[in-house]
Amino acid sequence: MSQPVYRVCLLPGDGIGGEVISQAQRLLQALPLQWEFESGEIGFGAYQRLGSPLPEATLAAIRRADATLFGAVTTPPNLAGYASPILRLRQTLDLYANIRPCRSFQHPSSRQGINLVVVRENTEDLYSGVERVEDNGNRAISEMIITRRASERIIRQAFELARQLGFNKVTVVHKANVLRETCGLFRKVALEIAPNYPDVAMQEMLVDTCAMELVRQPEQFQVIVTTNLFGDILSDEASMLVGGLGVACSGNIGKNSAVFEPVHGSAPNLAGQNKANPIAAILSAAMLLDYLEQKPLGDLVRQAVEACIAHNQVTQDLGGILNTTEAGEAVISEIRRLL
Ligand code: NAI
Ligand code: MG
Repeated sequence: MSQPVYRVCLLPGDGIGGEVISQAQRLLQALPLQWEFESGEIGFGAYQRLGSPLPEATLAAIRRADATLFGAVTTPPNLAGYASPILRLRQTLDLYANIRPCRSFQHPSSRQGINLVVVRENTEDLYSGVERVEDNGNRAISEMIITRRASERIIRQAFELARQLGFNKVTVVHKANVLRETCGLFRKVALEIAPNYPDVAMQEMLVDTCAMELVRQPEQFQVIVTTNLFGDILSDEASMLVGGLGVACSGNIGKNSAVFEPVHGSAPNLAGQNKANPIAAILSAAMLLDYLEQKPLGDLVRQAVEACIAHNQVTQDLGGILNTTEAGEAVISEIRRLL
């Protein structure tokens, strides 16, 4: 049987985006799989060149691809009429699940014993964009919108992911004691869905307690599932427990498309210097491999990254002396050794 050819859309974006994505691409090319890459424009550079931070051609390329790897974009402050391409991407392609794994590394900046995933609803809640001002600008209102449909699919996704990862617990995080209707609906849907997964225990936790517990005893968590705003904050908190921005990866997954990206931004202070840590992008590529049902290769990439970190084959942000290209090279060499 001939091997499948995977079509991957690459969106380097602005700043260090291109530098880290090219390392992730080299890594994919070093694996025993067939790839067809197509690049798309996104971000402030695209806006300056083409008049749009997310051109239609880019959306079309993402739709054509089996999966997409995205670097980072720069958001210009106070540019009237400029809309973040990331929010538009998530909404247009209905990338409803934001997945952020956090796993301990053998490194001083990482706490030990952590292996958790934050599953965040990515389309609604306070980020629905329904805002208004009243009273001559002295009263501002943002609507928190929670629907049964979005809650159901994200909670199912969390339980399915727990099963795939061999976990046996999902923590549903909310604030239903105060936000009785919105968080109440999310909680109610979770309680309805949980019995369909008798092999996975459901635990409830208030969001403030969860923020505290993540600092006190993060080892207790496996999958955390929550609404958009809480997930935004908790996933950033969790990523700092295990090495921070240089290694934090994520996926935005929908029914028909999936976009994987490092958590960090375009880091203008590092751009063009070949200094950025490519690991976050490389681990995002590992998530892309999982998504393409190549989990053994995803695991291999993670194993190679863990070895490089343990042997200090890393960039300056993690205390190493390698540049971006050399750090990417180190992971690839380790993979060749493991293959
Ligand atoms: P940032 O994540 O770009 O940088 C924060 C700090 O972390 C900086 O000191 C930077 O040098 C460092 N850093 C980030 N990535 C690194 C890497 N791979 N290796 C080593 N060090 C790294 O966040 P910042 O500075 O707040 O934002 C810069 C621009 O990026 C802004 O225009 C912002 O809007 C945008 N941004 C975009 C995101 C995205 O595309 N998903 C996410 C966050 C910010
Ligand atoms: Mg964030």
